[in-house]
Amino acid sequence: MKEKDFIPKTYSKTLNSGNVTWSSPSNIALVKYWGKKEDQIPTNPSISFTLDTCKTTTKLSYLEKVNSDDFSLEVFLEGEKKDDFKPKIFTFFKRIEKYLPFLKNYHFKIETTNSFPHSSGIASSASGMSALALCLMSLERSLSKIKLSDEYFMQKASFLARLGSGSASRSLEGDLIVWGEHAEILNSSNLFGVKYPFKVHEIFKNYHDTILLVDKGEKQVSSTVGHNLMNNHPFANLRFVQAHDNLSKLIKVFKTGNLNEFIAIVESEALSLHAMMMTSMPYFILMKPNTLEIINKIWSFRKETGLHVCFTLDAGANVHVLYPENEAKKTIKFINSELVAYCQNGHYICDRIGFVAKKIN
Ligand code: DP6
Repeated sequence: MKEKDFIPKTYSKTLNSGNVTWSSPSNIALVKYWGKKEDQIPTNPSISFTLDTCKTTTKLSYLEKVNSDDFSLEVFLEGEKKDDFKPKIFTFFKRIEKYLPFLKNYHFKIETTNSFPHSSGIASSASGMSALALCLMSLERSLSKIKLSDEYFMQKASFLARLGSGSASRSLEGDLIVWGEHAEILNSSNLFGVKYPFKVHEIFKNYHDTILLVDKGEKQVSSTVGHNLMNNHPFANLRFVQAHDNLSKLIKVFKTGNLNEFIAIVESEALSLHAMMMTSMPYFILMKPNTLEIINKIWSFRKETGLHVCFTLDAGANVHVLYPENEAKKTIKFINSELVAYCQNGHYICDRIGFVAKKIN
């Protein structure tokens, strides 16, 4: 599929008003997306586990308007009007108008809720943009003369979500999603996420992700600024090669179920991501002292017990603790007794691998 394949022909049906609701999962990258070109094209491929508990539910209400000169929308988060969210959605609408030419014909009310607290430091842009893209695709489906296949529907929804936030392209289906071209993954694309196509060992089914909320404050540096700092970054090209290599290695690991290899790749990816931040110009650090305390505790516990708990990080101080189902009991005990003390107000979220986004009505 190319960009032009997502430009619709004519719409035949008319709809005056209505609403649609979708619930979309969050995701955690194992190989990280860090760096992008124009139009939200990633500088390297990434792969993520879709999550189950962390999700965003969005209701999109639409009302046809007389004047179609400009976009018209209002946004609510947890029932509260959020005018400060509007610029981001206007930018998103501008980027996707070519692919959804009906956008200026309606007034939109966007009502969104997250399963996790907004102030948890968990980025809601992936699940949020994916839920909104799915709602818009449902509207397109209702307006279309031809029947849109489910495959096209999901692919275009991921394509649109990417234009809202890169990692959102991986937040529609499960349980492992690849975004960005990779030589060994035939249908991989820079334009949208695809389901990981190869064999995945049983050990990765039901994998756990306990998210330790180390710092719930606003990030000092946004992901968008961080991505842009990869342009002219002294280590950028090597980092992009490393991401390709790590994804190649993961293909083997997913097949064999070699957890020691899995841990080495995933932890190295997390630290490489933060190393890129620390070596940008200007440089910045998103980890907090408690992030490092937790990492050291995980390493000691792993050494003592031989269990396969590991960590990953996204663009913040929170720690995602990953472990297999068959070691969950002992690992949860360790998390409760040794790690929760490093969380802000003792807060954490128990999540695990999840699956596809759901239409609610
Ligand atoms: C560190 O998708 O939030 O979580 O495309 O600018 O919206 P934008 O960035 P975003 O970047 C996420 C970066 C990451 C790694 C990842 O999820 O792959």
